[in-house]
Amino acid sequence: MERRLISHLAHRDHPIAAPVSGAHVTRLLRRARLPEGARILDLGCGEAAWTLRALALYEDATADGVDVSAEALKAAEAHAEVQGVWKRIRLHEKPAADFPVAEKYDLVLCVGATHAFGGLGPTAGHVRRYLKPNGLALIGEGFWEREPTPEALAGLGAGPSDLLDLPGTVAAAESAGFDTVYAYTSDLSEWDDYEWSWTGTLLRWANEHPGPDADAARAAALEHRDTWLHGYRKVLGFVTLLLQRSAEEKPART
Ligand SMILES: C[S@@+](CC[C@H](N)C(=O)[O-])C[C@H]1O[C@@H](n2cnc3c(N)ncnc32)[C@H](O)[C@@H]1O
Repeated sequence: MERRLISHLAHRDHPIAAPVSGAHVTRLLRRARLPEGARILDLGCGEAAWTLRALALYEDATADGVDVSAEALKAAEAHAEVQGVWKRIRLHEKPAADFPVAEKYDLVLCVGATHAFGGLGPTAGHVRRYLKPNGLALIGEGFWEREPTPEALAGLGAGPSDLLDLPGTVAAAESAGFDTVYAYTSDLSEWDDYEWSWTGTLLRWANEHPGPDADAARAAALEHRDTWLHGYRKVLGFVTLLLQRSAEEKPART
């Protein structure tokens, strides 16, 4: 069973593919205070949960969403139809790094998808190229809440230097030419809600769809749950930075 299909099924009850509650997604998007007729770009949009929420909040905004997952984009299209905003969103199935810099946007999102550009620093640099002067970015990224344990690193298949601590994360984003004008740090209950939804929804799907894919879905859910409960719970944090493009790229502060 393809990893993308597993991820699609696992997110059915938590369409935001990050440990952020719907209320906090709304709060971050409201804080962006977008101008009339805003243009939004969502890189690694998944099912476009963030952008669809933005289109509900800003009724004259229009958006582009980019993702490599056909399943996620199909779901995004269906949600946009149900929400009645299909004319205001264009979806592009391609790697985010290949999306052309053909126009400038008021808001660029990249939440939980910085791997598409090779990490936070390169992502912030790419995102900046799409922004109007004083334009905004919402970048959601993991960070080490505390020193990563060997169990957390093994479960995530990560090295200690793959992520930074919170101050380092802020500094890495800002050094690409941004100011952090707001941010939201996910709390433990949001992480738990996200992970219980991911693993529980997949287990339930496996029970209700007996057949060759059910075993793979069950195994993926249990492996993910072990990795979380025995590994990165309370170690891995997640922050969504609301960044404003500053006049110039800045050297990293030490
Ligand atoms: C954790 S999900 C986040 C989705 C969405 N931003 C959200 O918060 O709901 C990461 C997404 O990045 C997408 N992705 C992975 N590599 C990508 C790439 N090279 N270009 C574009 N999207 C990519 C995946 O398909 C997935 O939908």
